Amino acid sequence: MASRGGFSSKIGFIAAAAGSAVGLGNIWQFPYVAGENGGAAFLLIYVAWIFLIGLPIMVGEVAVGRNTGANPFGAYKKLGGKKWAWVGFFGILCGVMILSFYNVVAGWAFGYFVQLSFGDLLQQKELSNYFYNYTADFSDNLIYSLVFMVLTGFIVYRGVQKGIEGTSKVLMPTLFIILILIIIYGLNLPNAADGVAFYLVPDFSLINGATIYSALGQAFFSLSLGMGALITYGSYISKEDNIVNSATWVTISDTLVAFLAGLMIFPLVFSQGQSPSEGPGLVFIALVGIFQNMPPLLGKLVGCSFFLLLCFAALTSTISLLEVPVAFLVDQKKWSRKKSVIVMSAIIFALGLPSMLSYGASDLFSNFAYYEGTSKTFMDVVQDLFFVVSLPLGGFLLSIFIARHWKAKSLSEEISQGYASYKGSVIEKYFNLMITMVCPVVLGFMFILTVLQKFFGVSIF
Ligand code: TRP
Repeated sequence: MASRGGFSSKIGFIAAAAGSAVGLGNIWQFPYVAGENGGAAFLLIYVAWIFLIGLPIMVGEVAVGRNTGANPFGAYKKLGGKKWAWVGFFGILCGVMILSFYNVVAGWAFGYFVQLSFGDLLQQKELSNYFYNYTADFSDNLIYSLVFMVLTGFIVYRGVQKGIEGTSKVLMPTLFIILILIIIYGLNLPNAADGVAFYLVPDFSLINGATIYSALGQAFFSLSLGMGALITYGSYISKEDNIVNSATWVTISDTLVAFLAGLMIFPLVFSQGQSPSEGPGLVFIALVGIFQNMPPLLGKLVGCSFFLLLCFAALTSTISLLEVPVAFLVDQKKWSRKKSVIVMSAIIFALGLPSMLSYGASDLFSNFAYYEGTSKTFMDVVQDLFFVVSLPLGGFLLSIFIARHWKAKSLSEEISQGYASYKGSVIEKYFNLMITMVCPVVLGFMFILTVLQKFFGVSIF
């Protein structure tokens, strides 16, 4: 056991799991997906998914992880035999694919940091063009995401406590403070109120099937659920920790950061007369515009700190994504941590190459497929397949696994360690109901609807 490593304390786990949860998903993706899907209406559905489905699934994943002390493949295999092990393996595969594109976007954030600090980004007039030219430049993509991958690999190589826990504990609070400062600034700009209204006053006519399943996929992605990242992190915590309590903290922090990111971005977008449905460029374009309007030195300072922190938020997430396949190789194949990190990082980086070519550098990957009435980039396809569809599917399989195979009783047994009054409590009844009844039904149903709507153009709502 000693060689697997573990977190030093409850706070260590919360910081690392919150670090995994809070990332580009919250600050980059949540605002643009919300912007494309009706703002406040999306926010409402998102929060409902997070607490009704996300939190119970998180508790389930962490419990399975702590009980088995293994990576997702090992965990399912230990409790469910060979037949279930493939579920864990599929999760690991999703993680690998997610990291392959995630690392590219992290590279954009890193590149923006460098351009703001040392380049002429703050003097650019056409920020939207700048973003599209920038993401179309293959060599920039290549260099910045390479640096990011190497950094991620280095931290994961250093191990659970020194690398993952130590990094997360410092970076998470700093990010929070910067967000609050930009929000205060943004709320005082002209037309900020329109942005706040878009974000907080729901227009229910905007809710349709697409809103509902995008919000579900986004909820799973943001909480890092559905592929076993939290089985892996759960395997590093002690029997004295209260799983329900820790998972609740992680869920609240993640939701708070996504919420604040929206509150930061929409006033800025509306005050500059931009469209909230700009897509993946939203945060990059709107924020730089704001930094340009500040007095030069201040703009540079705030801009650099913002993108630096975005990189840090991304880094605590990329390390959690890389940790999963690495733990798999260390546990199952008995490879050394070093060899596992080097081999996995190289594979994932290579798998990311088509995503780097997805924004104009190559026509093939920029117009890779056509469905849902639009042309999709390679990166879009990877996102649709490996998170919008697969993460809720992973949650579905986990809940079925607990309901049918591991059983609610074993789940309660595991959770009650570190939480003495759990058994017999209302909370126990609630989680049992959600994990063994509600999640399997709702997630199974949503999986079918999502696939039908996305790939077959059949929409029930
Ligand atoms: N949750 C992270 C974010 O919001 C991304 C992430 C990290 C992730 N680990 C994961 C997503 C595991 C799915 C599964 O940016």
